[in-house]
Amino acid sequence: MRAPHVVALGGTLRPESATGRLLAAALGMAEARGARTTLLTGDAIAFPHYEPDAAAGNAAVGRYLDALRSADAVIVGSPGYHGTLSGLVKTALDYVEQLRTDERVYFDGLPVGLIATAAGWQAAVSTLHALRTITHSLRGWPTPMGLAINTTEPGDCIGRCGPQMEVMVGQIFDFLRC
Ligand SMILES: Cc1cc2nc3c(=O)[nH]c(=O)nc-3n(C[C@H](O)[C@H](O)[C@H](O)COP(=O)(O)O)c2cc1C
Repeated sequence: MRAPHVVALGGTLRPESATGRLLAAALGMAEARGARTTLLTGDAIAFPHYEPDAAAGNAAVGRYLDALRSADAVIVGSPGYHGTLSGLVKTALDYVEQLRTDERVYFDGLPVGLIATAAGWQAAVSTLHALRTITHSLRGWPTPMGLAINTTEPGDCIGRCGPQMEVMVGQIFDFLRC
């Protein structure tokens, strides 16, 4: 079997973004299982608000959509902003609308791992729910294990959620083997 391509998108514009670091850690686990990976975070997803009739012609958007078109699995990570996903991540997900006329529409048939961070548990969980709802709308298959992470808990968040992240990445690979 060829190496699956796992694409992670999300995070924030902050260079030290915990969400971005968590996405990179999840891709590291996917690489350890033999995947090719692409991380799309920060400026790589800083797009203008989505306007269906004006979405063509942006080079960064083109690279983003090309990566998603070749993805065998996706991982989406967002901070909780006011109880739900950030505008940066929502706008990036809005651009998936550009895949509506593809042979494979949106995330149809793809396993999708989800990571939500927040400064408290309530927003971490509500953001994870919002990401699941969006994934369903995009015809993707959220893995049973999703990560809701309170970044204010003591210790490094990557170390703390490592076991759950390993389960989530493992479920992506279980799905790909089906
Ligand atoms: C505009 C804004 C809104 C936020 N809203 C919430 C919130 O409603 N609940 C919460 O627990 N944390 C909230 N936070 C905190 C972030 O979710 C949290 O710090 C997150 O881990 C930041 O991720 P990052 O390190 O990837 O930037 C907010 C932060 C910002 C900047």
